[in-house]
Amino acid sequence: MKTDVVIIGGGPSGLLLSQLLNKAGVETIILERSSREHVLSRIRAGVLEWGTVDLLQEAGVDERLRREGIPHDGCYLADEDQMIHIDFHGLTNKRSMVYGQTEVTKDLYAAQDRQGTPILHGVEDVVINDPKSDAPYVTCILDGTPTRIDCRYVAGCDGFHGVSRKTIPETVREEFERVYPFGWLGILSETPPANDELIYCHSDRGFALCSMRNENLSRYYIQVPLTDKPENWSDDEFWAELKRRMPAQSVETLVTGPSIEKSIAPLRSFVTEPMSWGRLFLVGDAAHIVPPTGAKGLNLAASDVFYLKEGLIDAIVNGDSTKLDAYSDRALARIWKAMRFSWEMTTMLHQFDGEDSFAPQMRKATLDHLARSESARRDLAENYIGLPY
Ligand code: APR
Ligand code: PHB
Repeated sequence: MKTDVVIIGGGPSGLLLSQLLNKAGVETIILERSSREHVLSRIRAGVLEWGTVDLLQEAGVDERLRREGIPHDGCYLADEDQMIHIDFHGLTNKRSMVYGQTEVTKDLYAAQDRQGTPILHGVEDVVINDPKSDAPYVTCILDGTPTRIDCRYVAGCDGFHGVSRKTIPETVREEFERVYPFGWLGILSETPPANDELIYCHSDRGFALCSMRNENLSRYYIQVPLTDKPENWSDDEFWAELKRRMPAQSVETLVTGPSIEKSIAPLRSFVTEPMSWGRLFLVGDAAHIVPPTGAKGLNLAASDVFYLKEGLIDAIVNGDSTKLDAYSDRALARIWKAMRFSWEMTTMLHQFDGEDSFAPQMRKATLDHLARSESARRDLAENYIGLPY
């Protein structure tokens, strides 16, 4: 087999990149280890920056998003019973869009099917060969048969546990990591959202988040120790603990019900540099992980895709590799700012085991400053709705 760009990983990064490249006449083949059903069963965050919405529009996959997505003009931060409104639209003239990542992925698969792009599921033993040469190729086992795909470039969109990052020699790679000593226990329930807007709750029992997917589907999270297991939390215990961490006025109107999904995710900040090595380019979770507190995971994957599709199209269609050569630097400049924001939100809203008596005072002062200072709220809003590409 032969193509312009082999894309490893059929998550949102790989699918969106492929869709945008195909629209510009660049051929791709996607290699995905799991089945499509498995990829679509993963519940992930649900807040899109408007830059992500625009990129999905450019990719021609915004039709259902425009119909079913819920534009959000703001969110709340709560400190015990004090609600601090962050008015995105009033402060920045921009908004965000609530639409689940699973739905984005579903729409991208449908668009790629219409495009006729080969998406090969169940591939094993993917190896990226000769990325430093002008003629890289990828080998894998496809339906039990050893297979070789020659290409001009390889996009590593295979998430945190993929092979692409590890293909870059350790002597070249530099990794930066912060692991947080807690996780988020999340549930999905077929109940109306607690509020029109998301509520990020700080309390002395730990963090909680009230989020949503649509008018009858809600997503809630509470901070838990990493040693907890989802099966040890009954729905009743979850709701009781959530209520203890929410502001009183929202507890009154909270509608509870059975959970239809329950899972625990650890929190981590991670970046690898550089994001390219010869003709191999890392995209999305393959290169970086953010804690979910600022809802930046998918949005950072989208900005990587934006920079890489520009570089690849210029190189393949116009024979100019200037932007492709600058891919890693351009992407990382934006990534580090989102890293900083996600870390800051996480630090401001969570309890840290074993922390000194100073730490909670710092959180309280930060939140009080946000409540009183419009410029502090504007800064938060500017980062939340997404920095420019
Ligand atoms: N070969 C082929 N496919 C692989 C391999 C491999 N060796 N390793 C992993 N994959 C596949 C995974 O099965 C997965 O479907 O790569 C895909 C990577 O998808 P994601 O982990 O979703 O990563 P990405 O597409 O970068 O999405 C960005 O945004 O909100 C965040 O973390 C969240 O997934 C999200 C991310
Ligand atoms: C979600 O709805 O799953 C969600 C929303 C906002 C976040 C994280 C997760 O910051």
